Amino acid sequence: RHCFSKAPDGFLYCEGVRVQDTMDAAERSPFYLYSKDQITRNFEAYREALEGLRSIVGYAVKANNNFKILEHLRGLGCGAVLVSGNELRLALRAGFDPARCIFNGNGKLLEDLVLAAEKGVFVNIDSEFDLENIVTAARIAGKKVPVLLRINPDVDPQVHPYVATGNKTSKFGIRNEKLQWFLDAIKSHSNDIKLVGAHCHLGSTITKVDIFRDAAVLMVNYIDQIREQGFELEYLNIGGGLGIDYHHTDAILPTPMDLIDTVRELVLSRDLTLIIEPGRSLIANTCCLVNRVTGVKTNGTKNFVVVDGSMAELIRPSLYGAYQHIELVSPPPSDAEVSTFDVVGPVCESADFLGKDRELPTPAKGAGLVVHDAGAYCMSMASTYNLKMRPPEYWIDNGKMVKIRHAETFDDFMRFFDGL
Ligand code: LLP
Repeated sequence: RHCFSKAPDGFLYCEGVRVQDTMDAAERSPFYLYSKDQITRNFEAYREALEGLRSIVGYAVKANNNFKILEHLRGLGCGAVLVSGNELRLALRAGFDPARCIFNGNGKLLEDLVLAAEKGVFVNIDSEFDLENIVTAARIAGKKVPVLLRINPDVDPQVHPYVATGNKTSKFGIRNEKLQWFLDAIKSHSNDIKLVGAHCHLGSTITKVDIFRDAAVLMVNYIDQIREQGFELEYLNIGGGLGIDYHHTDAILPTPMDLIDTVRELVLSRDLTLIIEPGRSLIANTCCLVNRVTGVKTNGTKNFVVVDGSMAELIRPSLYGAYQHIELVSPPPSDAEVSTFDVVGPVCESADFLGKDRELPTPAKGAGLVVHDAGAYCMSMASTYNLKMRPPEYWIDNGKMVKIRHAETFDDFMRFFDGL
């Protein structure tokens, strides 16, 4: 069951609420509209898949950092994967158990590593200098830091190059030829750090579970090798990256169950605790960006629907050429002509589009138009370009629309100049 669906009356609903009605209630458009229950269901899918394994689900906070959503996921038993000091602070503020948090990244700063060390979160080693900083942070904090080695297994995730992270030319992790150097260095710092696991993250939007399986086979071999040298590894972290059905074509895409099932036997055979780091597959499909149509225009043979949302609120189409499904929230008048449109925003860039070549009934001024699957990497990547201040966020909770983030305003912007 999915939270957003078109009913026979032609209206789009979110958990029984007409999206058209949420537009009347929202303080302005565009806005993000989530289903709280869909977030729960997505997490439950992972929990079910992981039954019978020792595991940690670390939600990748970069996908969506709404504080209310974080509190909700934490309440469900989720851990958190962080890539900056502020993400770490936010997760702690939202009450995440530090023992279920992982601090990742190729450029972690010393001051943030000190906070991680003080709180006792897992830290990934990404490079020689990173190792040096982690040791320094451990000494400053006076704590022994549990570390995982981020290995670059050189597996092609078959995704857009911008979101591939575990292949040869990527900036992340360490390569096989340096493994021994790292193991020796970790041994020599055994007062300050304890190697507890191995990590990899292949990339994002992955739609074939064989790719995870190939990587897990390599990773388990690494773990065997590392254990032979006397390290007591407990954790295998296979990262995040599971894709979702952005095209709404009913293509059969792998589920969390399919993903876990391909690695289950490997994990059990080595008596490991499995860590996974899903972002997109937990949050993307729980949300739409709801826009209002400003007008329709034609240049030569090209038709445009101009809406109030833009690349400032939702940059994935511009940045990765990503497809996100678009539809109108209410039935069009019966005489509305169906045409092919580019759906664009008001931002002064030709890169400002939400969708290209979409077949839509010609919408009236003020009509509602949603961009689906906007829960991951949309609001968290939003900017204030053209002073389009970030939109408010709402979720449907028990059939009621509740605000979960205030709209940013012009006054918020002017505040940065107070007293200067
Ligand atoms: N773990 C690590 C180490 C990561 O780098 C990422 C995402 C994740 C977990 C979560 O991956 P997910 O399950 O969400 O695929 N902005 C891009 C996606 C960038 C992903 C970065 N790393 C997009 O909009 O497609």
